[in-house]
Amino acid sequence: MNAEMLKEIYTKARQWVEEAGHYIRTNIDNPLTVDTKSNPNDLVTTMDQDTESFFVSKIKETYPDHSIIGEEGYGDKLTTLEGTVWIIDPIDGTMNFVHQKRNFAISVGVYHNGIGVIGLIYDVMADVLYHAKRNEGAYKNDKKLNPLNKEVVLEEAIVGMNHFWLCPNRLVEEETMQQFVRKVRGTRTYGSAALEFAFLSEGIIDGYLTMSLSPWDIAAGVVIAGEVGGTATNIDGQPLNMLEKNSVLVCNSNLQKDIIKFIKKGRK
Ligand code: IPD
Ligand code: CA
Ligand code: CA
Repeated sequence: MNAEMLKEIYTKARQWVEEAGHYIRTNIDNPLTVDTKSNPNDLVTTMDQDTESFFVSKIKETYPDHSIIGEEGYGDKLTTLEGTVWIIDPIDGTMNFVHQKRNFAISVGVYHNGIGVIGLIYDVMADVLYHAKRNEGAYKNDKKLNPLNKEVVLEEAIVGMNHFWLCPNRLVEEETMQQFVRKVRGTRTYGSAALEFAFLSEGIIDGYLTMSLSPWDIAAGVVIAGEVGGTATNIDGQPLNMLEKNSVLVCNSNLQKDIIKFIKKGRK
Protein backbone atom coordinates (compact mmCIF):
# COMPACT_ATOMS: atom_id res chain seq x y z
CA MET A 1 0.00 0.00 0.00
CA ASN A 2 1.51 3.36 -0.97
CA ALA A 3 1.78 6.29 1.44
CA GLU A 4 -0.98 8.26 -0.26
CA MET A 5 -3.47 5.39 0.01
CA LEU A 6 -2.46 4.75 3.62
CA LYS A 7 -3.11 8.39 4.46
CA GLU A 8 -6.47 8.39 2.73
CA ILE A 9 -7.68 5.25 4.53
CA TYR A 10 -6.34 6.56 7.86
CA THR A 11 -8.20 9.87 7.39
CA LYS A 12 -11.49 8.11 6.62
CA ALA A 13 -11.05 5.59 9.45
CA ARG A 14 -10.33 8.38 11.91
CA GLN A 15 -13.33 10.41 10.73
CA TRP A 16 -15.67 7.40 11.15
CA VAL A 17 -14.23 6.51 14.57
CA GLU A 18 -14.74 10.08 15.77
CA GLU A 19 -18.25 10.20 14.32
CA ALA A 20 -19.24 6.90 15.94
CA GLY A 21 -17.67 8.00 19.24
CA HIS A 22 -19.54 11.29 19.20
CA TYR A 23 -22.81 9.43 18.65
CA ILE A 24 -22.14 7.06 21.55
CA ARG A 25 -21.11 9.91 23.86
CA THR A 26 -24.16 12.00 23.14
CA ASN A 27 -26.48 9.01 23.62
CA ILE A 28 -24.74 7.57 26.67
CA ASP A 29 -27.68 8.17 29.00
CA ASN A 30 -30.34 6.75 26.69
CA PRO A 31 -31.95 3.45 27.72
CA LEU A 32 -30.00 0.41 26.51
CA THR A 33 -31.08 -2.98 25.29
CA VAL A 34 -28.60 -5.41 26.83
CA ASP A 35 -28.36 -9.05 25.75
CA THR A 36 -25.95 -11.86 26.55
CA LYS A 37 -23.92 -13.95 24.10
CA SER A 38 -21.68 -16.93 24.99
CA ASN A 39 -22.30 -16.67 28.77
CA PRO A 40 -24.23 -14.44 31.21
CA ASN A 41 -21.25 -12.06 31.55
CA ASP A 42 -20.64 -11.74 27.80
CA LEU A 43 -22.77 -8.67 27.12
CA VAL A 44 -23.86 -7.05 23.89
CA THR A 45 -26.03 -3.97 23.37
CA THR A 46 -27.77 -2.49 20.37
CA MET A 47 -25.08 0.22 20.52
CA ASP A 48 -22.36 -2.43 19.84
CA GLN A 49 -24.38 -3.72 16.89
CA ASP A 50 -25.36 -0.32 15.47
CA THR A 51 -21.78 0.95 15.73
CA GLU A 52 -20.35 -2.06 13.89
CA SER A 53 -23.07 -1.80 11.27
CA PHE A 54 -22.20 1.92 10.82
CA PHE A 55 -18.54 1.03 10.11
CA VAL A 56 -19.43 -1.84 7.79
CA SER A 57 -21.73 0.30 5.65
CA LYS A 58 -19.16 3.15 5.43
CA ILE A 59 -16.35 0.75 4.47
CA LYS A 60 -18.39 -1.23 1.95
CA GLU A 61 -19.64 1.99 0.33
CA THR A 62 -16.18 3.60 0.14
CA TYR A 63 -13.90 0.58 -0.34
CA PRO A 64 -15.97 -2.25 -1.84
CA ASP A 65 -12.87 -4.40 -2.34
CA HIS A 66 -11.80 -4.27 1.33
CA SER A 67 -12.79 -7.03 3.79
CA ILE A 68 -14.00 -6.71 7.36
CA ILE A 69 -13.68 -8.80 10.51
CA GLY A 70 -16.05 -7.50 13.18
CA GLU A 71 -17.05 -8.85 16.55
CA GLU A 72 -20.79 -8.54 16.07
CA GLY A 73 -20.95 -10.46 12.80
CA TYR A 74 -21.71 -7.71 10.27
CA GLY A 75 -18.38 -8.27 8.55
CA ASP A 76 -17.10 -11.09 6.35
CA LYS A 77 -16.14 -14.68 7.15
CA LEU A 78 -12.46 -14.65 6.27
CA THR A 79 -9.95 -17.46 5.97
CA THR A 80 -7.11 -15.25 4.77
CA LEU A 81 -5.77 -11.77 5.48
CA GLU A 82 -4.92 -11.12 1.83
CA GLY A 83 -5.81 -7.65 0.56
CA THR A 84 -6.95 -4.87 2.89
CA VAL A 85 -8.80 -6.06 5.97
CA TRP A 86 -10.46 -3.89 8.63
CA ILE A 87 -10.61 -5.54 12.07
CA ILE A 88 -13.20 -3.83 14.25
CA ASP A 89 -14.38 -3.97 17.81
CA PRO A 90 -17.23 -1.43 17.90
CA ILE A 91 -17.19 -1.27 21.70
CA ASP A 92 -14.30 -2.91 23.53
CA GLY A 93 -15.22 -3.08 27.19
CA THR A 94 -18.97 -3.56 26.82
CA MET A 95 -19.26 -4.49 30.50
CA ASN A 96 -17.76 -1.10 31.40
CA PHE A 97 -20.03 0.59 28.85
CA VAL A 98 -23.11 -0.97 30.46
CA HIS A 99 -22.11 -0.70 34.13
CA GLN A 100 -19.87 2.36 34.25
CA LYS A 101 -20.68 4.35 31.10
CA ARG A 102 -16.95 4.92 30.65
CA ASN A 103 -13.66 3.03 30.25
CA PHE A 104 -14.58 1.52 26.88
CA ALA A 105 -13.12 2.10 23.44
CA ILE A 106 -13.75 1.81 19.73
CA SER A 107 -10.94 -0.24 18.24
CA VAL A 108 -10.16 -0.26 14.52
CA GLY A 109 -7.14 -1.93 12.94
CA VAL A 110 -6.40 -1.98 9.23
CA TYR A 111 -4.18 -4.76 7.88
CA HIS A 112 -2.73 -5.04 4.39
CA ASN A 113 -1.68 -8.53 3.29
CA GLY A 114 -1.46 -9.51 6.94
CA ILE A 115 0.59 -6.51 8.09
CA GLY A 116 -0.96 -4.00 10.48
CA VAL A 117 -0.83 -0.55 8.87
CA ILE A 118 -3.31 1.55 10.88
CA GLY A 119 -4.43 1.38 14.50
CA LEU A 120 -7.08 3.55 16.14
CA ILE A 121 -8.23 3.17 19.73
CA TYR A 122 -10.74 5.77 20.84
CA ASP A 123 -11.44 6.17 24.55
CA VAL A 124 -14.88 7.54 23.85
CA MET A 125 -15.89 9.21 27.11
CA ALA A 126 -12.43 10.67 27.76
CA ASP A 127 -12.32 11.83 24.12
CA VAL A 128 -8.77 10.50 23.75
CA LEU A 129 -7.65 8.93 20.50
CA TYR A 130 -4.59 6.67 20.35
CA HIS A 131 -3.55 6.32 16.73
CA ALA A 132 -0.76 5.08 14.53
CA LYS A 133 0.21 4.55 10.94
CA ARG A 134 2.90 1.97 10.20
CA ASN A 135 6.42 3.43 10.39
CA GLU A 136 5.11 6.88 11.37
CA GLY A 137 5.00 6.58 15.16
CA ALA A 138 2.08 6.45 17.57
CA TYR A 139 0.13 9.33 19.07
CA LYS A 140 -2.20 10.10 21.94
CA ASN A 141 -4.33 12.84 20.40
CA ASP A 142 -1.64 15.24 19.07
CA LYS A 143 1.17 14.05 21.32
CA LYS A 144 3.72 11.61 19.92
CA LEU A 145 4.30 8.68 22.25
CA ASN A 146 7.83 7.92 23.41
CA PRO A 147 9.53 4.63 22.54
CA LEU A 148 9.32 1.94 25.25
CA ASN A 149 13.06 1.73 25.68
CA LYS A 150 13.29 1.78 29.46
CA GLU A 151 14.70 -1.41 31.01
CA VAL A 152 12.05 -2.74 33.40
CA VAL A 153 12.61 -5.62 35.79
CA LEU A 154 9.74 -7.87 36.86
CA GLU A 155 9.88 -6.62 40.46
CA GLU A 156 9.19 -3.07 39.27
CA ALA A 157 6.67 -3.84 36.57
CA ILE A 158 2.98 -2.99 36.56
CA VAL A 159 1.21 -5.58 34.45
CA GLY A 160 -2.31 -5.39 33.05
CA MET A 161 -4.05 -8.74 33.40
CA ASN A 162 -7.38 -10.31 34.24
CA HIS A 163 -8.31 -13.51 36.01
CA PHE A 164 -9.04 -15.60 32.94
CA TRP A 165 -6.16 -17.92 33.80
CA LEU A 166 -8.82 -19.52 36.02
CA CYS A 167 -10.81 -20.56 32.92
CA PRO A 168 -11.29 -24.31 32.40
CA ASN A 169 -8.72 -24.38 29.59
CA ARG A 170 -5.95 -23.10 31.88
CA LEU A 171 -2.83 -22.49 29.85
CA VAL A 172 -0.62 -21.88 32.87
CA GLU A 173 -0.81 -23.56 36.29
CA GLU A 174 -2.66 -21.42 38.79
CA GLU A 175 0.18 -21.55 41.30
CA THR A 176 2.60 -20.03 38.81
CA MET A 177 0.18 -17.22 38.08
CA GLN A 178 -0.20 -16.56 41.80
CA GLN A 179 3.60 -16.38 42.12
CA PHE A 180 3.69 -14.05 39.12
CA VAL A 181 1.17 -11.68 40.71
CA ARG A 182 3.31 -11.58 43.87
CA LYS A 183 6.52 -11.13 41.91
CA VAL A 184 5.54 -8.00 39.97
CA ARG A 185 5.10 -4.58 41.56
CA GLY A 186 1.41 -4.44 40.78
CA THR A 187 -1.36 -5.62 38.49
CA ARG A 188 -4.19 -3.68 36.86
CA THR A 189 -7.43 -4.80 35.23
CA TYR A 190 -9.07 -2.12 33.11
CA GLY A 191 -11.75 -4.21 31.38
CA SER A 192 -10.87 -3.17 27.85
CA ALA A 193 -8.07 -4.99 26.05
CA ALA A 194 -7.78 -2.13 23.56
CA LEU A 195 -7.28 0.41 26.34
CA GLU A 196 -4.71 -1.89 27.99
CA PHE A 197 -2.74 -1.91 24.73
CA ALA A 198 -3.07 1.88 24.60
CA PHE A 199 -1.87 2.30 28.20
CA LEU A 200 1.06 -0.02 27.53
CA SER A 201 1.94 2.07 24.46
CA GLU A 202 1.74 5.22 26.56
CA GLY A 203 4.10 3.62 29.10
CA ILE A 204 1.74 3.82 32.09
CA ILE A 205 1.72 0.03 32.43
CA ASP A 206 4.72 -2.10 31.52
CA GLY A 207 3.00 -5.17 30.15
CA TYR A 208 -0.37 -6.71 29.39
CA LEU A 209 -0.91 -10.45 29.71
CA THR A 210 -4.09 -12.35 28.98
CA MET A 211 -4.97 -15.92 28.11
CA SER A 212 -7.49 -15.51 25.31
CA LEU A 213 -8.41 -12.57 23.10
CA SER A 214 -10.03 -12.28 19.68
CA PRO A 215 -8.47 -10.45 16.72
CA TRP A 216 -10.79 -7.43 17.15
CA ASP A 217 -9.60 -6.96 20.75
CA ILE A 218 -5.97 -6.56 19.69
CA ALA A 219 -5.71 -5.59 15.99
CA ALA A 220 -5.42 -1.83 16.52
CA GLY A 221 -3.37 -2.21 19.69
CA VAL A 222 -0.74 -4.36 17.98
CA VAL A 223 -0.11 -1.59 15.43
CA ILE A 224 0.06 1.17 18.06
CA ALA A 225 2.28 -0.80 20.43
CA GLY A 226 4.54 -1.82 17.53
CA GLU A 227 5.16 1.84 16.71
CA VAL A 228 6.63 2.49 20.17
CA GLY A 229 8.78 -0.64 20.10
CA GLY A 230 6.38 -2.91 21.99
CA THR A 231 6.40 -6.61 21.14
CA ALA A 232 3.09 -8.45 20.94
CA THR A 233 3.13 -12.26 20.85
CA ASN A 234 1.28 -15.13 22.43
CA ILE A 235 2.44 -16.34 25.86
CA ASP A 236 5.00 -18.64 24.22
CA GLY A 237 6.56 -15.74 22.34
CA GLN A 238 5.05 -16.88 19.03
CA PRO A 239 3.44 -14.52 16.49
CA LEU A 240 -0.25 -13.64 16.88
CA ASN A 241 -2.73 -14.92 14.32
CA MET A 242 -5.33 -12.31 13.38
CA LEU A 243 -7.78 -14.96 12.18
CA GLU A 244 -7.99 -16.78 15.53
CA LYS A 245 -8.12 -16.33 19.28
CA ASN A 246 -4.69 -15.99 20.89
CA SER A 247 -3.16 -15.78 24.30
CA VAL A 248 -1.51 -12.35 24.36
CA LEU A 249 1.57 -10.83 25.92
CA VAL A 250 2.54 -7.29 24.97
CA CYS A 251 5.35 -5.29 26.55
CA ASN A 252 8.76 -3.90 25.87
CA SER A 253 11.00 -6.68 24.65
CA ASN A 254 13.33 -6.99 27.67
CA LEU A 255 10.38 -7.55 30.00
CA GLN A 256 8.70 -9.87 27.52
CA LYS A 257 11.54 -12.39 27.79
CA ASP A 258 11.39 -12.32 31.60
CA ILE A 259 7.62 -12.83 31.67
CA ILE A 260 7.74 -15.73 29.21
CA LYS A 261 10.51 -17.35 31.25
CA PHE A 262 8.60 -16.89 34.50
CA ILE A 263 5.31 -18.36 33.34
CA LYS A 264 6.94 -21.12 31.29
CA LYS A 265 7.48 -23.25 34.39
CA GLY A 266 3.71 -23.43 34.88
CA ARG A 267 2.88 -23.80 31.19
CA LYS A 268 0.72 -26.84 30.41
C1 IPD B 1 -13.56 -7.79 26.27
C2 IPD B 1 -12.60 -6.80 26.89
C3 IPD B 1 -11.99 -7.37 28.15
C4 IPD B 1 -11.29 -8.68 27.89
C5 IPD B 1 -12.29 -9.67 27.26
C6 IPD B 1 -12.86 -9.08 25.98
P1 IPD B 1 -15.66 -6.89 24.81
O1 IPD B 1 -14.08 -7.28 25.04
O2 IPD B 1 -11.56 -6.45 26.01
O3 IPD B 1 -11.04 -6.50 28.70
O4 IPD B 1 -10.80 -9.19 29.08
O5 IPD B 1 -11.63 -10.88 27.00
O6 IPD B 1 -13.78 -10.00 25.41
O7 IPD B 1 -16.43 -8.17 24.87
O8 IPD B 1 -16.03 -5.92 25.84
O9 IPD B 1 -15.61 -6.33 23.43
CA1 CA C 1 -13.44 -6.74 22.77
CA1 CA D 1 -16.84 -5.63 21.77
